[in-house]
Amino acid sequence: MSHSDYVSEIPHGFYPIAKTDTIPFAAIGNDEKKIYAVQFHPEVNHSLEGRKMLSNFLFEVCGAKAEWKMDNYIKIATENLKNTIQDKKVVLGLSGGVDSSVTAALLARAIGKNLTAIFVDNGLLRKNEREEVEANFKDMLNLIVVDARDEFLTKLAGVTEPEKKRKIIGNTFIEVFEREANKIKDADFLAQGTIYPDVIESSVNKKGASTTIKSHHNVGGLPENMKLKLVEPLRDLFKDEVRELGLKLGLPEKLIKRHPFPGPGLAVRILGEVTGEKCDILKEADHIFIEEIRNAGLYDEISQAFVVLLPVKTVGVMGDCRTYEYVVALRAVKTDDFMTADWFEFDPKFLKKVSSRIINEVKRINRVVMDISSKPPATIEWE
Ligand code: XMP
Repeated sequence: MSHSDYVSEIPHGFYPIAKTDTIPFAAIGNDEKKIYAVQFHPEVNHSLEGRKMLSNFLFEVCGAKAEWKMDNYIKIATENLKNTIQDKKVVLGLSGGVDSSVTAALLARAIGKNLTAIFVDNGLLRKNEREEVEANFKDMLNLIVVDARDEFLTKLAGVTEPEKKRKIIGNTFIEVFEREANKIKDADFLAQGTIYPDVIESSVNKKGASTTIKSHHNVGGLPENMKLKLVEPLRDLFKDEVRELGLKLGLPEKLIKRHPFPGPGLAVRILGEVTGEKCDILKEADHIFIEEIRNAGLYDEISQAFVVLLPVKTVGVMGDCRTYEYVVALRAVKTDDFMTADWFEFDPKFLKKVSSRIINEVKRINRVVMDISSKPPATIEWE
C-alpha cells in the first residue's frame, strides 16, 4: 500500500471492510465462504492495532484456542527426538550463539551424552567466549573444543576483501568441523540450529527472489558428503520462542539475551587485513564497551553493539611523546528485525567514560569515534 499498489476490483461475493485515502480495498471479506483478506502487514509495528487484528482473526473469527505452551513443546520435542535418534549418536556445531546453544540444550535433555558438540575456536571470537561456552556446556554433553586459531589466521593473512574473508572463514569452518566430526566414528545424525526465519530466508533465496547482500552462511553450508541425517529441532520456532525455550531449559539469561554476533566474527569488524594482534586489540576494546553498556543498564535496550577496528592510524600524544596508533569506532543500534536500524543515542558522559577507558586500557589505540549512521543506507556491520 505504501508503494501505491492497490486492488481496483474485488471478487464477486466479497465486501470491503477497510480503505485508506488512496486505496479502495485495504481489507475485504466474504462471510459466507469465511474468507478474509488484507493488503497490508498487520504483524509489523507500524500497523496500529495490528496484533489485535490478528488476535481477533484467530480467536474470534477462526475460533482457535491458545493452547500452545512452551512446556508442552519441550515434552513433545524431546519425545520426538528420542524416537528419531534412539540410542544413536548426534554431532552438533556449537557456536555459542543462541540458536546452537538452545539446540544443544534441547538435544542434551533428550539424549544426554549421546550428543557431541564441536566448538571451533577460530580466533575471531569475543573475549572469554570460549571459556563461557566451556563453562555452560561441559557437564551437559560431550564437548570438543577445537583450537583452530592459527589455521584461520594463516588462511586470512593478506586478505582484505570482506566477501573473500567471509568465504575463507566459512570454508575453513567446514574443513575443521568435518575433520573433527569424522573422528566420531559412529555418528548418525548432524544437528543444526536452524530456526524458522532461516527456513523462510533460504527458501526465498533458492527461488532467486531475494538478492544476497552478504553471504551469510548459517544454512545449507554444512557437510553434504558426511552422510549424516539432519536433525533441526528448532525449525518451527521464531527467535523469541527459541529464547523462551532456552530459559526453560535452564540456560543462563546472559547467554539467551546476548546480542547477535556474525559467523565471521571479528574478521568483519577488523577492516582490511586480519592479524592476531588486531584481534587482541579489538577484543579488549569491545569488552570494555560492552561492559560499560551492561553497567549502565543499557544492554537489553540496545539490539547490537560492538567496536570496529579501522585500518588507519592517527597521531596522538601520550605524556611527552607523539603516538601513531589505531582508531576504533563504536557502533550501537536499535532494531526490531535487523533489516532497518537506528543508531543508539548515548549520553555524552557515557561516551566519555568508554572512550577514556579504551584509550587508557587498550594498548595501540589512541582515538575513539562514534558511528552515527542508520541502516539503510549503512549496514550494521562495517564490512
Ligand atoms: P548488516 O551488516 O547486514 O547486519 O546490516 C545485519 C545482521 O546480520 C549480521 N551479519 C552477519 N551474520 N554472517 C552472520 O552470521 C555474516 O556474514 C554477517 N554479516 C552481518 C550482523 O551482525 C547483524 O546482526
